[in-house]
Amino acid sequence: MKKKGEFLTCLEVLTKSSEFLGRKGVPSPKCDSEWIVSSILKTKRMNLYLYPDEIIGEEKLNEIRSMIVRRGKREPLQHILGSVNFAGLVLKCDGRALIPRPETETLVEHILHRLPPSFDKAILDIGTGTGAILAALCSSLPSSVGVGLDQSEEALSLAKENLKDLNLQSRTQVRKLDWNLQKVSEEGVGLVVSNPPYLKTEEWECAETEVKAHDPKIALVAGEDGFSELKKIIDISVAVLPSGGMFALEFGTSHAEKISKSLSSKFESIEILKDLSHYRRFSIARKC
Ligand SMILES: C[S@@+](CC[C@H](N)C(=O)[O-])C[C@H]1O[C@@H](n2cnc3c(N)ncnc32)[C@H](O)[C@@H]1O
Repeated sequence: MKKKGEFLTCLEVLTKSSEFLGRKGVPSPKCDSEWIVSSILKTKRMNLYLYPDEIIGEEKLNEIRSMIVRRGKREPLQHILGSVNFAGLVLKCDGRALIPRPETETLVEHILHRLPPSFDKAILDIGTGTGAILAALCSSLPSSVGVGLDQSEEALSLAKENLKDLNLQSRTQVRKLDWNLQKVSEEGVGLVVSNPPYLKTEEWECAETEVKAHDPKIALVAGEDGFSELKKIIDISVAVLPSGGMFALEFGTSHAEKISKSLSSKFESIEILKDLSHYRRFSIARKC
């Protein structure tokens, strides 16, 4: 990026970084370069273009270079920055858990549109990962309490850090539980939410390097048709929720029919909702 004795301006660094990432096949090279440069300069992305001629010193240039090289090797931007924006929160993000996805922010929005701000029951987040859903819901519902379950101790350690950073530790807990081996028995639950693994093996095989090499496979893949874990979560919800309790689930693009069918005998007011790309991606229902 910099030859000996040469200095680069902010705009030059952005241009060279973006060209480098483009050559490496990174999908959003300009945007990712902006995130990296702005994180090192500790400024907003917009400011990079307000002061394009600012000279970037050697130390910062080296930091930017090392992050751009990592991104060029297709390490996810969120791991390089160490954080992700989710539903208005900044969460710590690393290889211990799945990077929370924008689709899941839409699920959180759908839930919050259907609950009163005074909601004061327990929220059970099954397969909590970074704790993203639990953190977003408990932040917006100040009278709620929450429990996040996951089989991955690494994910739980990250979720715990996130909930503490957001000052939610007094209202939330995380617990290790494998839903294939242990019974879920929580009391006072008013909402069960889950974004379980739902990819078919073949879908995971076609995923980008960022996903295959850096997201935990166990967080994403659910056998041949991707439906097995969804069915288990529905069964757990039936057992845990009282009549009138809310169930909210994220699933794959091919699962909507099967989900409706599986919910129909034990739930009412069943809604199938779309994500921002217009795929049927979520269901929200009330326990009969
Ligand atoms: C798709 S990730 C969702 C993470 C987070 N809720 C989110 O939306 O970003 C699914 C999570 O379920 C967990 N998981 C998978 N199988 C499990 C099992 N049998 N028991 C408990 N947790 C499991 C994974 O460790 C992972 O954290």
